[in-house]
Amino acid sequence: MDLLPFQAVHVDLVLTDGAEALARRARYLTLLSPDEHARMARLIFERDRHRFLLTRALVRTMLSRYAQVAPADWQFIANAHGRPEILDAPAGVPDLRFNISHTDGLIACAVTVGREVGVDVEHVGRRLTQDVAARFFAPAEVAHLQSLSEEEQERLFFDYWTLKEAYIKARGFGLALPLGDFAFHLSPDGPPSIRIEPSLNDDPASWQFCQEWPTPIHRLGLAIRRTGDDLPVRLRQVVP
Ligand SMILES: CC(C)(COP(=O)(O)OP(=O)(O)OC[C@H]1O[C@@H](n2cnc3c(N)ncnc32)[C@H](O)[C@@H]1OP(=O)(O)O)[C@@H](O)C(=O)NCCC(=O)NCCS
Repeated sequence: MDLLPFQAVHVDLVLTDGAEALARRARYLTLLSPDEHARMARLIFERDRHRFLLTRALVRTMLSRYAQVAPADWQFIANAHGRPEILDAPAGVPDLRFNISHTDGLIACAVTVGREVGVDVEHVGRRLTQDVAARFFAPAEVAHLQSLSEEEQERLFFDYWTLKEAYIKARGFGLALPLGDFAFHLSPDGPPSIRIEPSLNDDPASWQFCQEWPTPIHRLGLAIRRTGDDLPVRLRQVVP
């Protein structure tokens, strides 16, 4: 058993193209619930099925490191906006919160205890940038991007994107939260900060944001609701 992340956030990362994970496929299949098997069977492409299976294996085995619950025994329910959460945790199991993100080549799962957490990973080779930013980002974020060279825009686009996704995922609302109603401020000298419109009824000072490069081609954004000092964040690469 791992130490409980009461005063920390643990982020485990899986490379989806790793041979080791592929070799453990048969065991992963034994961990899925009937509903998860049905969802996996509905996916058309093998690549998507593999990612789905790895994601379930990652979440289940990661959660079991913090509680006396076998990986196959966790049950989940989606909130009104689609966020999976633990259902009917056995007595004595701590208030584990988790969030998942996947992108080409990488899956991330963030776990902490008793506080909101959201994670987003993106493959930075995706060509999205200007149109998407103009459509979805806050005016201050768009203005900042437009003041940069094209190369810098492409890099910082994913900084904004992953942070914005991490925040809406931590809140649990997904895209029901208007992306233009909050704006990040990125600084080379410190962690990102956020400005939140009153319509969202949230306290910017209660959030900790963090950004990482888990691989040279993947950007990661993390949002954690804190009650005091910043929490330590532990990232590690695993094979479930
Ligand atoms: C669903 C959404 C929450 C995340 O989507 P995404 O970034 O495409 O995908 P990610 O891989 O990062 O996250 C998907 C995971 O988030 C979790 N999730 C789903 N709904 C969620 C919600 N409301 N809140 C938090 N997490 C949620 C799920 O675990 C899901 O994985 P699973 O289906 O395998 O369990 C939502 O933000 C979305 O649809 N985004 C689309 C991207 C976009 O247009 N972004 C705008 C630019 S910032």
